[in-house]
Amino acid sequence: MLTSGPKGTHDILPGESEKWHYIEELLRSLCKTYNFREIRTPIFEHTELFLRGVGETTDIVQKEMYTFMDKGERSITLRPEGTASTVRAFLDQKLYAQTQPTKLFYIGPMFRYERPQAGRFRQFHQFGVETFGTAGPEADAEVIALAVEFYKKIGLSDLEVHINSVGCPQCRPEHKEKIQTFFQPKLDKLCDNCRSRFEKNPLRILDCKNPNCREESIGAPTTNTCLCEECESHFSQLQKLLQELNVKYVIDDKLVRGLDYYTKTAFEIHAPEIGAQSAVCGGGRYDGLISACGGPQTPGVGFALGMERVFAALNTKGLTLPVQQKIDVFVACADDTSRYKAFQLVYALRQAGISAEKDTLNRSLKAQMKYADKLSAKLVILIGEEEMTNDFYTVRNMSDSSQEKVTSAEIKAYLLNIIFGRKQ
Ligand code: HAM
Repeated sequence: MLTSGPKGTHDILPGESEKWHYIEELLRSLCKTYNFREIRTPIFEHTELFLRGVGETTDIVQKEMYTFMDKGERSITLRPEGTASTVRAFLDQKLYAQTQPTKLFYIGPMFRYERPQAGRFRQFHQFGVETFGTAGPEADAEVIALAVEFYKKIGLSDLEVHINSVGCPQCRPEHKEKIQTFFQPKLDKLCDNCRSRFEKNPLRILDCKNPNCREESIGAPTTNTCLCEECESHFSQLQKLLQELNVKYVIDDKLVRGLDYYTKTAFEIHAPEIGAQSAVCGGGRYDGLISACGGPQTPGVGFALGMERVFAALNTKGLTLPVQQKIDVFVACADDTSRYKAFQLVYALRQAGISAEKDTLNRSLKAQMKYADKLSAKLVILIGEEEMTNDFYTVRNMSDSSQEKVTSAEIKAYLLNIIFGRKQ
């Protein structure tokens, strides 16, 4: 069908787009205060990057990537997430040779071939931050604090912050083995997905959403029972730092995340009231990812939040954002002669930085007033016969319907003063 977009995509229309700008500006200004700088990477990358970066056993790589051969017979994938691309750029552009840490943020569309449902799209938008080059838990606390502060700023202060430690290559083999021993006798009760995860990535069984698997994983050995000394100390320092920052959290020892690159810290922020897809943010540490992608051993930590889920959380809570799309001035004219004058005035006002509009569909004066109302114009300038003859404008303030006569010579200064409080 030519009149409907592909499944799992959505249009962001005027009325909504202003809200997106508001959120994006808030995130950008927050990043400035936390000293994260923007990176814009391509929307597509070589498929290989995600195979290595995200992990071959993940749902993303196995089932959800938009992959195609380009005309040069190269396998290309639309980015399903931002971390791998940011790591690729860090290496490609030799950012590791600059003063460390490297603190980056991104906002943009991501693509996953998932089954669409409330809060889950095939093209969705993420805001994410990544810190490269800091091994200590301060960097973990910093990114969690940034996310929490953002949600607080838009009125979402009671979200649930879940944290866990998923260990490192040193302690994970022991955990993996314990999990396999635990699930071995229960294998036939697990879902197909979990059965196939059993060999390569058994940790993922712990966060399977299938009710049977959940039941079967009661009592399973959790990561924190196997942490090595370094991971243990990292995790307890992180908790201290979060307490210091007054960030409330719960330890969720089943949280393992769906991407393969995590080491030590893993975290998610949930808004349970938005439904099954309640994770509004997810992230963690990935100290082995940069070297796995061919770079120097460099630790990393970050998160991404789903923009659509921010709006879903705001909507379910009935919260509105302080955005209004109003134009400053609508210029209404009574006939063809005044129409030309209105045309000139609108352009002069726009050049002075005043948002201005006029009718272009030959509406009657009455219909023009209705249109001005629809555009939520703060002021309407009327140009009729009397105004044309005596070279003045009638300015109507739409908030109280008061009217004033202003000469042509004074109109610009008059409007700048009313709109911006600027005396000329
Ligand atoms: P992720 O958990 O796959 O992590 O995605 C992060 C967030 O993106 C989710 O919590 C959710 O809000 C949103 N999201 C994911 N998939 C969809 C979808 N299909 N529709 C709508 N929203 C979605 C990552 O992507 C990691 N790269 C995060 C990260 C950055 N870890 C370290 N640095």
